[in-house]
Amino acid sequence: MRPELLDGQGVVSDSFPFWPGLWVLPRPLPGITEKNRSNLFGTFAVTQALLPALTRTRGAIVDILSVNALAPLPFIIPAYSVSKAAAFSLTQSLRARVAGQGVRVHAVLPGPVDTDMTRGSDVPKASPESVALAIFDAVDNGEEEVFPDPVSAPMAAHWRDSAAKVLERQLAHVAPVSSPVNREADVRPMLAGSADASRLASAADSAVPQDR
Ligand SMILES: NC(=O)c1ccc[n+]([C@@H]2O[C@H](COP(=O)([O-])OP(=O)(O)OC[C@H]3O[C@@H](n4cnc5c(N)ncnc54)[C@H](OP(=O)(O)O)[C@@H]3O)[C@@H](O)[C@H]2O)c1
Repeated sequence: MRPELLDGQGVVSDSFPFWPGLWVLPRPLPGITEKNRSNLFGTFAVTQALLPALTRTRGAIVDILSVNALAPLPFIIPAYSVSKAAAFSLTQSLRARVAGQGVRVHAVLPGPVDTDMTRGSDVPKASPESVALAIFDAVDNGEEEVFPDPVSAPMAAHWRDSAAKVLERQLAHVAPVSSPVNREADVRPMLAGSADASRLASAADSAVPQDR
């Protein structure tokens, strides 16, 4: 891990084998504390460290996010919400990028859970045990997004049919035409069904720096 990535200085790095050219958030970002930064950068660092082993074993990544990845709590925890939304985007991109290597990537989007983090809050909370069991069940069932508690569970059905999820599935296949990801046989049938995706693929291709 290059220290400047953990430091979040808006680095473009080509040293990450699974993520060339990643731009990370510039700093300073107001209100982003070390804890909140670790939601994104810690997830990234741990994923990078474990990915070779996960690829070998065709394992699964389970990122613990929050319902605030989908919508912020602007007057209570805006910076935390930013960090979880960013981590969710990381999860989604990672899912697309490692799918071909047999690694599954799950996003857990809990509501309030009774842990140290919520000690000072008197909202109803799920028990950590019930949340952990729901996560294991969902991973076994192959659910990409996991809504593991009574507050988040009603969102599951809405999420699966949402514009955001539909778009995630479409964009997951869009790659520069020159990319090895974009093998003709895999991608052309999908692109044929989506004029938008086709346009995006062309735009992405022309945006790829020629000196990489
Ligand atoms: N509790 C909830 O209502 C809730 C809801 C949605 C999502 N989540 C998410 O669930 C995950 C677990 O949270 P939790 O509820 O179990 O909270 P928690 O009881 O406060 O535990 C947080 C853990 O993260 C570690 N940690 C904090 N900052 C760190 C850093 N910079 N580097 C390394 N480790 C760090 C803490 O270690 P130390 O004890 O050593 O500080 C602690 O073990 C978090 O990602 C949280 O955002 C929680």
